[in-house]
Amino acid sequence: MPTLHRRIAGLAAALAALGLGAALATPQKREEDNDPDERQIQLASGRLAFELNCLMCHSEEMTTGSRLTPQQWATEVDKMIGWGAPVPKEKRALLVDYLSSQYPADKPAATPARLAPDKALALERPDPTPPPVGKAEEGALLYKSLCANCHGPDARGGDLGTNLVEKPVLFRRDDYLQALRAGRRRMPSYRSVLKPQDEADLLAWLQQRKND
Ligand code: HEC
Ligand code: HEC
Repeated sequence: MPTLHRRIAGLAAALAALGLGAALATPQKREEDNDPDERQIQLASGRLAFELNCLMCHSEEMTTGSRLTPQQWATEVDKMIGWGAPVPKEKRALLVDYLSSQYPADKPAATPARLAPDKALALERPDPTPPPVGKAEEGALLYKSLCANCHGPDARGGDLGTNLVEKPVLFRRDDYLQALRAGRRRMPSYRSVLKPQDEADLLAWLQQRKND
């Protein structure tokens, strides 16, 4: 399945940038503005923060249709945080910087495609369709590139993540999905990264791990 492999490569790169994002959280503004490479990395980190924290309720057009000053973007981001966007404190500045540079007030305005609040809420409601059947072999690939760094190669835990083998959470689907989609402390949110099929594949693989 070549598309899966391509997506894994993309996701791995995105997560590497996530690590970088932390290092860039307290940037020395002036030096970075003068260094085009640093600037690119900073924007990529902001872009990632946007994908991880802003696209779970509405599509990207909600922002691409807006043209705001940095101050207005900061206000907008705080408003969305108030509405439930899980932006980590140290990512807020990167995110505002990314949005201000991509959608500045002095570029022509586009018509925003607005999502009615009840529609946004509907996206949050549980999906009545049955969950996809997980394929453990696909899950193994996803696990290796996205989760093993923290939870260890066999899911028995590592420096950065807990042991997942035979954990009750693997048999409470809602709790499992909640952990994956919302993130847990050090663990990032995978809501905009993983499709329902990916979540099911990962779960199938994790459920097969046994303590021996
Ligand atoms: C918890 C759900 C949720 C999250 C997460 C979220 N938004 Fe929103 N957003 C909404 C809703 C609801 C609206 C209002 C839609 C409307 O006005 O019809 C909205 C509207 C907007 C608008 C249009 C202007 C406005 O204030 O109505 C922008 C721009 C926007 N969001 C940007 C963002 C950004 C940037 C993020 C990430 C920090 C984000 N959103 C995260 C729910 C969310
Ligand atoms: C950056 C490190 C990190 C990454 C990457 C990570 N996790 Fe986690 N994960 C954690 C930590 C730390 C916890 C425990 C959080 C807490 O204290 O509640 C956790 C908790 C969990 C839990 C809940 C465990 C429980 O008993 O409630 C599940 C399920 C989980 N992770 C699955 C995954 C999967 C699947 C992936 C890959 C898609 C992943 N994690 C990637 C660090 C990580």
